[in-house]
Amino acid sequence: MRLLILGGTQFLGRAVARLAHAAGHDVTCLARGQGGEPVPEVRFVAADRDAPGWLSGLDGERFDAAVDVTRRPSHARRAAQALAGRVGHWGYVSSVSVYADLATPGQLAGTAPLLPPAPPEVDDPTGEHLEHYGGCKVSCEQAVRDTFGDDRSFICRAGLIVGPEDPSGRFTYWVDRLARGGRVLAPGNPQDPVQLVDVRDLASWLVRAAEQGLTGTYDATSAPMPRGRCLAEVAAGVRSEATLTWTDQAFLQAQEVRPWSGERSVPLWVPLPEYAGFLAHDVGPALAAGLTIRPLTETAAATLDWLTSDHGAAPLTGLTSAEEAELLRRWDAAG
Ligand SMILES: NC(=O)c1ccc[n+]([C@@H]2O[C@H](COP(=O)([O-])OP(=O)(O)OC[C@H]3O[C@@H](n4cnc5c(N)ncnc54)[C@H](OP(=O)(O)O)[C@@H]3O)[C@@H](O)[C@H]2O)c1
Repeated sequence: MRLLILGGTQFLGRAVARLAHAAGHDVTCLARGQGGEPVPEVRFVAADRDAPGWLSGLDGERFDAAVDVTRRPSHARRAAQALAGRVGHWGYVSSVSVYADLATPGQLAGTAPLLPPAPPEVDDPTGEHLEHYGGCKVSCEQAVRDTFGDDRSFICRAGLIVGPEDPSGRFTYWVDRLARGGRVLAPGNPQDPVQLVDVRDLASWLVRAAEQGLTGTYDATSAPMPRGRCLAEVAAGVRSEATLTWTDQAFLQAQEVRPWSGERSVPLWVPLPEYAGFLAHDVGPALAAGLTIRPLTETAAATLDWLTSDHGAAPLTGLTSAEEAELLRRWDAAG
């Protein structure tokens, strides 16, 4: 198969390129080369999708399939339209952030209501436009469907993507923290649901979808698991003997701890009931259509290997050691 990856210099795009190449496919990645290094053994075409003539490096070429990871509606639209006659199967990596209702668990990709598309003046959901990320993904999906229809498009709404090379530091926070051991602050209730997907499992499904011509729209993440089990499996994967101290939501909010990501945050924690559906999608259709999820112990171990390797200079997000210690002291004092 000739596979075109629009992207391929970062986390997921690199994983898709590496796996497709290892499976024997003829892979081309197109990006600027600014986000990171392309996979060395894979053909790389340097191009800026904002520039006129951005596709000239691929003049006259045809591909059996393409995978696009863009967040920008103009990029999604232009690529789909320009390549519709030269690419058979179009895989688009979207996100579970497209959903309008974050509170209801058990929603399905086929029926869950979506956010409105991004306003036309917003084309890059970064910086001040971060809140338009979900709307931009909705617009990108629409551009893909408008061009490739339901019979040639595979729309893969990823949940939290984790594993080696993750630039976000969210899951890596737990790998690092549990590997360091000792007494660890755990957020919320151990029964709260969590969903995530190993970047290699997601990449592998994208490649298989291209090979098999799988079409449709799916949520691509694990089945929900209790956060307590998730942290226990991460601990087992990194051979940690850490002990968890569960601190409830009311305490964390009173201490101005942020959910999810960023400074003074606890990753993988979202406030309830507002976000009770965010990490609790029904992924039965994706699992039935071939998405496989490896044991989380393996993901944790591989993430730690990467983190402690020469290449693992990942920015971590979440609490600093001093913040965590102070919060545990206050939790104890509160009885
Ligand atoms: N991380 C998560 O937990 C999560 C969850 C749900 C969904 N997602 C989605 O999963 C995907 C992740 O993709 P990813 O890890 O490969 O990283 P990404 O951050 O989406 O990478 C964007 C890619 O596009 C390229 N690019 C950006 N601007 C460009 C331009 N003007 N011209 C040409 N290429 C350009 C970048 O390369 P250059 O900068 O080198 O050009 C890079 O390879 C994204 O679609 C994201 O929205 C992520």
